[in-house]
Amino acid sequence: MAETPANPTNGLVDLALMREASEQIGKRQSGGRPPVFVDNTFLGPVFQRPLRHGADLVMYSLTKYVGGHSDLVAGGVVGIRSVVEPIKKLRGALGTQLDPHTAWMIMRSMETLSLRMHKAAQNAAAVAQFLRGHPKIAHVNYLGFLPPDDPCRAVFERQCDSAGSTFGFRVKGGEAEAFLMLYALLVIKLAVSLGGTESFISHPASTTHSGLPKPTRDRIGITDALIRLSVGIEDADDLIADLREALDAI
Ligand SMILES: Cc1ncc(COP(=O)(O)O)c(C=O)c1O
Repeated sequence: MAETPANPTNGLVDLALMREASEQIGKRQSGGRPPVFVDNTFLGPVFQRPLRHGADLVMYSLTKYVGGHSDLVAGGVVGIRSVVEPIKKLRGALGTQLDPHTAWMIMRSMETLSLRMHKAAQNAAAVAQFLRGHPKIAHVNYLGFLPPDDPCRAVFERQCDSAGSTFGFRVKGGEAEAFLMLYALLVIKLAVSLGGTESFISHPASTTHSGLPKPTRDRIGITDALIRLSVGIEDADDLIADLREALDAI
């Protein structure tokens, strides 16, 4: 099971390599190979197709890009029949089907999924570029900035069709500096969700990832200075102006 790109670090996992590892394990044990599961929430079905890279099952938080309007909570899986069938049966037994209204909202959202994801990705490229050049920013983990000699670059080019629109950046300093900036934003909303039409920003160390011990967070790059930004489909210039003014607060 891999979440790639991973939240909030944008770490990548090589899906072809995972499949190869699964095949190798399968050869050494009876009972078949372990299935390859991938959480594709970050790039969505528009920008990454894990089934083409050897995955057996792909999971989505439909709450995020697929729903796309921050008005529903849902999840979905797609994959090979032998893996999906037992999940469908268990869902039937437990009764966790979506209600009809939410299912209808997802169908409606899917009509604009590609448009929304492309526009958000275009905005994200401009916003990431602005942040990278800002003197108060230490690092931007936008996938488009992976250096050519980074082994993840080859993985990115092989399996991702875009850098997407959710990424993290570190301000110079720590939690205090991060909070000063976050509370000064006027357009970008301070919220832990992602993938909506509106831009969301969050501080993973004190919210989504606060359950991890600090040494672990620091080791995997979720430092107190890390801010996660999910870029929406607003005017990119408005987002950049908002970030510029908020950074002045530090
Ligand atoms: C990559 C990823 N997968 C799954 C989830 C869970 O999503 P949900 O809110 O729909 O339970 C999240 C939530 O942040 C996520 O970022």
